[in-house]
Amino acid sequence: MSAIRACVFDAYGTLFDVNAAAREVAGKPGHETFALVWQQVAQDWRAKTLQYTWLRTITGDYVDFWKITEEALDWALEASDQAEPELRELLLGLFWSLKAYPEVRPVLQALKDRDVPAAILSNGTKEMLAAAVDTAGVGDSLAAVMSVEDVGTYKPAPQVYDLVGETLGLDRDEVLFVSSNGWDAAGAAGYGFDTLWVNRAREPVDRLPGKPRRIAADLRGLPGIVAELQA
Ligand code: 2OP
Repeated sequence: MSAIRACVFDAYGTLFDVNAAAREVAGKPGHETFALVWQQVAQDWRAKTLQYTWLRTITGDYVDFWKITEEALDWALEASDQAEPELRELLLGLFWSLKAYPEVRPVLQALKDRDVPAAILSNGTKEMLAAAVDTAGVGDSLAAVMSVEDVGTYKPAPQVYDLVGETLGLDRDEVLFVSSNGWDAAGAAGYGFDTLWVNRAREPVDRLPGKPRRIAADLRGLPGIVAELQA
C-alpha cells in the first residue's frame, strides 16, 4: 500500500448538505404544509436523483446532473402532493447554495496546512460544483474539482474514477477517496482507492464487492487518518 498523496471527496452528502434546501424551505413562513412532509420529499429527491443516475448510466441515456436533479425533485414533490411551481423553483434555487457541513472548512484547511492536495470528484455539473464550492468558501483549499460532465456517465462507472488519475497524475493506491454514500465508497474501494466512508446517516455497510477500509461518522478524524497514511 503506497503512501497517500491526495484526498478526493464526493460532493453531495459528503461536503455539502444535500438536505439543506428542503430543510430551509420547511422553516420558512407560509410553507407549513411542506414542513409536514419535507423530510419525505428530501429523502425521495435524493433517492430518485441517485436512481436516475444509475439507470441512465445502464441505458446510456446521459443527461447532466442538473436535469436529473430537477426531474427527481418533480417526482418527489408529486409523490408528496406538493407539486407547486413556486415551491419547486424555491427548492431548486436553494440547491445552488447548499451549506457545507460544519467540519468541512476546518478539515480542508488542515489538509492544506499539511500540504495534502484535496479535490472533488462529483456527479454534479461543473457549474453546480463551482456554485457549491463558492458558497462554502473552500475554493482555495481545493487542487481540483472534477465533474462527470467530462466523462458523460455517472458513478460508480470506473471511467468516472479514472478522472482522478488523469487529473492528479496519481496511482489508485495513492488516493484516499472520501464519500458519505455507501455505494460510492464501495465503488471507489472496488476501483482500487483507499476509501473512507463517512457514514453520516449511520447506515449498514452496503453488500457490494468493494469494502471501504475505514468508516467514520464525519470528517473530523480525516487529518489524523491522512497523517497516519502518509507515514
Ligand atoms: C456526488 O456528489 C451524487 O453525491 C454524489 O457525486
